[in-house]
Amino acid sequence: MRSIGVLTSGGDAPGMNAAVRSVVRCALAEGFKVYGIYDGYNGLINGKIEEMTVNSVSNIINKGGTAIYTARCLEFKDQEGVLKGKETCEKLGIEGLVVIGGDGSFRGAADLSSAGINCVGIPGTIDNDITCTDYTIGYDTAMNTVVDLIDKLRDTCNSHARCSVVEVMGRRCGDLALNAGLAGGATAIVVPEIPFDFEKDILAKVVDAKNRGKHNFIVVVAEGIGGSAEISKKIEEATGIETRAAILAHIQRGGAPSAKDRIVASRMGKYAVDLLKNGIGNRVVAMKGNDIVDYNIHEALKMKKSIDQELFKLADLIK
Ligand code: ADP
Ligand code: F6P
Repeated sequence: MRSIGVLTSGGDAPGMNAAVRSVVRCALAEGFKVYGIYDGYNGLINGKIEEMTVNSVSNIINKGGTAIYTARCLEFKDQEGVLKGKETCEKLGIEGLVVIGGDGSFRGAADLSSAGINCVGIPGTIDNDITCTDYTIGYDTAMNTVVDLIDKLRDTCNSHARCSVVEVMGRRCGDLALNAGLAGGATAIVVPEIPFDFEKDILAKVVDAKNRGKHNFIVVVAEGIGGSAEISKKIEEATGIETRAAILAHIQRGGAPSAKDRIVASRMGKYAVDLLKNGIGNRVVAMKGNDIVDYNIHEALKMKKSIDQELFKLADLIK
């Protein structure tokens, strides 16, 4: 019987479980034997692998996190680790692998594909930082979590006429900060892709909002900018508005996946299985508009991402 494996790697994201469930059930429906590989690429190296049945993925579509766990496996970055992974696959007869994760995870998938095991990547990260796809699994849930938290901060800011500097995840990609900032009605948004000047891009906006009679001030800062405590201090010193920093941290990565994340994950899982069924590897599954498509992993990793400048201008216009 033909066999495939599935693993989740890198930072977890809500909806990864829905993707695993879809891969397992679609592959079983095609007559594959399916293996769940635990702890990201670590499972390929140390053999923590279990055969999956339809019931192995029961009751996870609604859960955040990843039931087969994840890891940042350094060993797989070296050829030696990749060859160990290949050996494990060959021992179990695994001819294809679905890797759910971000760009680092796809590098591992490309290396394993080059070593002879067909791999297909599914984008799963709250950052939405994979250029080849309009959407990464987990982004919608995380965005809604951030907006909900901004709304809560706004309530208490408004009561006290305070300012909150909200630090949102995203080291190099400001999509989460920009979109959640827009949806949360932020006074100022700072993202890593756009150089910023404290006086002009934060302070002047808070002062302007105060002069317009605003009673709450939300400044959204992407993690890649950092320094939210210092920014808070500077705002308070310059304006007299009491300012607190709120670092949202890993709260953004947890929680039940939204309907969108479950649906995209389920569609991408099926698409990945179909590629492997046809003997196709070294591909990333992606979303273009409402369509699911695929790209060569190397080509996908070369694509450069840019922030939506028009959306940034809009958020500023209606702040
Ligand atoms: P995140 O963006 O949350 O870090 P990634 O999907 O980029 O998530 O995960 C990175 C993980 O992918 C690494 O910790 C490692 O386990 C795995 N990986 C495998 N091969 C590589 C590689 N060549 N380069 C980077 N990461 C790799
Ligand atoms: O890639 C997802 C992500 O949540 C980033 O937004 C963040 O910078 C990073 O992972 C945090 O990593 P860790 O879980 O190692 O703290």
